[in-house]
Amino acid sequence: MSLQPILGASSRMQRLLRLVARVAPTDSTVLVLGESGTGKELVARSLHLLSRRAQGPFVAVNVGAIPEALMESELFGHSRGSFTGATTERMGLVEEADQGTLFLDEIGDMPLATQVKLLRMLENGEVRRVGENAPRIVDVRVVAATHRDLTALVADGRFRADLYYRLNVVQLDLPPLRERRDDIGLLASFFLDRAARRQERGAVEFTPDAMALLQRYDYPGNVRELENAIEHAVALSEGALIAPADLPAAIRNPRMLPGVASDAPAFGGAAIPDGHVVPAGHAVPEARPGDDSRPLEVVLREHVLRMLNRHRGNATTAAKQLGISRTTLWRMLKRWGVSRSATKGS
Ligand SMILES: Nc1ncnc2c1ncn2[C@@H]1O[C@H](COP(=O)(O)OP(=O)(O)O)[C@@H](O)[C@H]1O
Ligand SMILES: [Mg+2]
Repeated sequence: MSLQPILGASSRMQRLLRLVARVAPTDSTVLVLGESGTGKELVARSLHLLSRRAQGPFVAVNVGAIPEALMESELFGHSRGSFTGATTERMGLVEEADQGTLFLDEIGDMPLATQVKLLRMLENGEVRRVGENAPRIVDVRVVAATHRDLTALVADGRFRADLYYRLNVVQLDLPPLRERRDDIGLLASFFLDRAARRQERGAVEFTPDAMALLQRYDYPGNVRELENAIEHAVALSEGALIAPADLPAAIRNPRMLPGVASDAPAFGGAAIPDGHVVPAGHAVPEARPGDDSRPLEVVLREHVLRMLNRHRGNATTAAKQLGISRTTLWRMLKRWGVSRSATKGS
């Protein structure tokens, strides 16, 4: 396993990288949080490769992909004949990670019964295979990740509070790509060079228009989406330039408010708290969550524009989620000077 760099020019990623370097050599359990495609697994691999366990195994487990009935035996192993189908004895993934790092992805999907056993493993370094009585000693560092809000799962009784605190010794938060637009150019160039090399192309570059579209897009799939978009673009492009037409349709026509008009500046948007971008001229004031001193109209506008953005300009579905009629939505947009052409579904 080779060390792939975690690229990041934004101050948030720079801070994260410093934290990764500081935490990696310790044996601390780490909880990595972030949306899908933000680099959680990449961070987990880096933590492993920068630790004293680097020569040991890195075992990645997608907890969400294991059927509940098999969870315990997959993770902890089983003895022969311990259940129907257990025809041979088997070591679990935790034991496989002995002397190394166990990456538990989508930890929020772990059933409560398994959570108890994981907690026991973390507390006394022992695992018990299904069907066996004697515990086995393991030396495993756990890095867990999820895109879900674990504190909400704890509040709902679906995630054990004691396990949450045990996993959350160090927490690393990976911001969505749309909240660190400074990283887009760096990542895009890196993926472009790599794709050009892999596809045995000569030097390839983005046209300024293509770069402007990449900079402006919201990336619901985060870095993974950017990476795939660029591989797709390199495969489609013919010459030495990646033009807007080579980019995936979602990036070419983001249908964000008020549409990607050719006269709109590349960086016309202002980030609003959840990171969506509101176009210049309709920029909402910087607001901190919990800031209750803003006029209602400002809060309303921010919320409505965010919903519209989230629904990619679709007035019908945005209005539905807002619980208002389309006509009411349009009236609000008119009041705020947002052009109706910004929406679709009219
Ligand atoms: N900061 C980054 N620098 C370089 N590549 C990245 C970065 N973040 C993510 N990637 C790449 O994006 C893809 C998705 O990352 P991954 O770690 O699988 O995300 P997650 O586990 O959060 O879904 C991977 O190919 C990864 O190498
Ligand atoms: Mg992942």
